Amino acid sequence: MKFFVETIGCQMNVNDSDKITDYLLSEGLEYADDVLQADLVILNTCSVRFSAEHKAYSFLGRLSEQKDKNPRLIAGVVGCMAQYAGKSIKNRFKFLDFVLGAKELDKFAGAVSKFIETGGVRKATRKSGVFEYVTIMRGCGNFCSYCIVPYVRGPEQSVSVDEILAETEKCVKRGAKEIILLGQNVNSYNYKNIDFTGLLKEVSLINGLERIRFMTNHPKDFPDELIDEIAANDKICKYIHLPMQSASDYVLNRMNRKYTYGKYKLLVEKIRNKIPRINITSDIIIGFPGETDDDFKETLRAAEDLKFGGLFIFKYSPRPNTSAYKLKDDVSTAVKKERHSVLLERSNEISKELNGYYINSEEKVLVDAYANGICESRNSQNIKIFFNSAKDLTGKTVTVKITKVFSNSMSGDMREI
Ligand code: SAH
Ligand code: SF4
Ligand code: F3S
Repeated sequence: MKFFVETIGCQMNVNDSDKITDYLLSEGLEYADDVLQADLVILNTCSVRFSAEHKAYSFLGRLSEQKDKNPRLIAGVVGCMAQYAGKSIKNRFKFLDFVLGAKELDKFAGAVSKFIETGGVRKATRKSGVFEYVTIMRGCGNFCSYCIVPYVRGPEQSVSVDEILAETEKCVKRGAKEIILLGQNVNSYNYKNIDFTGLLKEVSLINGLERIRFMTNHPKDFPDELIDEIAANDKICKYIHLPMQSASDYVLNRMNRKYTYGKYKLLVEKIRNKIPRINITSDIIIGFPGETDDDFKETLRAAEDLKFGGLFIFKYSPRPNTSAYKLKDDVSTAVKKERHSVLLERSNEISKELNGYYINSEEKVLVDAYANGICESRNSQNIKIFFNSAKDLTGKTVTVKITKVFSNSMSGDMREI
């Protein structure tokens, strides 16, 4: 029996899909290269924006046609959208065999057991990637006014230190070189008085683990000890994703983000003073209810002032249950589009300018993938770096001299090993 997992959404979902894949492989199923060849299809959904839900509906529309042609096809939906809209998904797509919310993933084995023959002969394990995700916190308790995550993933909960260490060791044994610790706000990690800085110290002691990354850090509570640990610990990548969302205090307050732009800027300056060569990237929401031209200009000016290594810019999308849902979505689609493209263009110029500082520098890079004679790698700052190589160096760390830069990547020549 062959299965296929389609994943929409953030790293949390990628991590959940990896777990689903691990389970099905361990039960003797085989991974299908293409959804059309699968006997079992699982869609892992996201609800963070309407566009993510739209993707799920399109996928299910196509899946329904596949089911018409192949009545024996088994299909299930899991994830965040299944969590709060499970009933309506079941009603609309009657062919689905099961629907399980993001909080019910522990019931996955039970849900598929009626449809699959478990314990097949060809038991396999998933080939580990160069980097693997380890979830350290579930849910979120921040209730940013626009965000559906606390409603679909539940309250904030820290995973035990032992479980995190065991999971990391398992990944390293399977060949992972880099671990990405995941949580909606890793700064508030706390398990029996071990905070995130303490956890980082413990994880970095694992033999064979070369790099540690994490996300996401909320700007409202970024302790000095954490900055010092990132600076001092060689295994920790010099990369921080620090969502700002907006630089207008009026908007930030209405978003319930619990900081002002002034406080955010001070934090960025402090981090840069203490950690040389740190790369800071950010998330921005464009067109939050009530965002005026002046509010947007403040965000644009902040992007120019703070010079992020990269920006993820999202158009505000009203989400059911959230407190901002009651506000009028009063910034027109046209204005959202315009602000989005202005900011994106400026942000790309800035990141290209920043990447320019790397010209001629020799970067230690970890190779993630190889295709057509080109290695794809990343440095400690998490910038993508391409270089030519006759050999597949996936998983190896090599030195590359940077010769060309773009806004989202660089390229160069490998120093002979
Ligand atoms: N926990 C992380 C982010 C999780 S969601 C944090 O707090 O930073 C990832 C990003 O999606 C957010 O940073 C935000 O920029 C964006 N986002 C969340 N809800 C949104 C909405 N309703 N409309 C548009 N963008 C949204
Ligand atoms: Fe959503 Fe805010 Fe929680 Fe991030 S911190 S997941 S934006 S509620
Ligand atoms: Fe992630 Fe989307 Fe769920 S962003 S937590 S998959 S709503």
